[in-house]
Amino acid sequence: MSMDMKGDWDRRARTNAPWFIATSVEGGQEEFDASGRRDVGYFFDGLEELLHDEQDVLDIGCGIGRMDGFVAPHVRSLVGIDVSGEMVRKAAERLASLDNVRFVEGDGWTLQPLGDATLGLVISHICFQHMPRRVVSSYFAEVSRVLRTGGDFVFQMPEANADSPADPPDEDTFGMRFYEEQPLREELAGVGLEWQGARRFEVEAPNLTFNQLRIHVRKRA
Ligand SMILES: C[S@@+](CC[C@H](N)C(=O)[O-])C[C@H]1O[C@@H](n2cnc3c(N)ncnc32)[C@H](O)[C@@H]1O
Repeated sequence: MSMDMKGDWDRRARTNAPWFIATSVEGGQEEFDASGRRDVGYFFDGLEELLHDEQDVLDIGCGIGRMDGFVAPHVRSLVGIDVSGEMVRKAAERLASLDNVRFVEGDGWTLQPLGDATLGLVISHICFQHMPRRVVSSYFAEVSRVLRTGGDFVFQMPEANADSPADPPDEDTFGMRFYEEQPLREELAGVGLEWQGARRFEVEAPNLTFNQLRIHVRKRA
């Protein structure tokens, strides 16, 4: 079986998008929206200055725009990209009332069709954890390409610890991958993204306790 990120995520979007996006949300629309507001709060805690009215933002793995609706009102423009055309379609419908937002279907590896050095901020939440590592590496290089000099990249990764399971096979486009800080730092530095800091949030998942890392790097001059 070969890896089919697009097909798998389109199927998940059609079956039950909110559940696959935020598996802890069992309630209805109101709870889903509340989770978006809450996660934007955690995600930008201490980094609020990155949200301002001259900021152009890209959200990688935007899903149905759960967080974007709470980010867009604070910035000049927001583009959400996702491998799933179904997710992107639902996101555009949900956030049709926001005129500074657009959504694009990506190829799952690159940030085409976005231009070089066109963005001030790239964000990604609970997205890289589902991808094979080589896909994440491809995105890191692409983030460096689309960011302006001095631009920021903020993203979440589950942190590896002694109990972390080994990576699932590449064909598994949902299972979690866990990362150590130091190799991530080195890889990001290698594509011109300079370490600004990491913050840890403890998470208790069924049978597993781990930290979420929120990593902040900046495009080097
Ligand atoms: C758990 S959802 C999170 C969505 C959104 N970030 C949020 O917090 O609401 C993961 C999203 O990543 C997308 N995704 C998975 N693999 C991807 C890839 N290779 N490139 C872009 N998006 C991907 C999925 O389609 C899905 O919308």
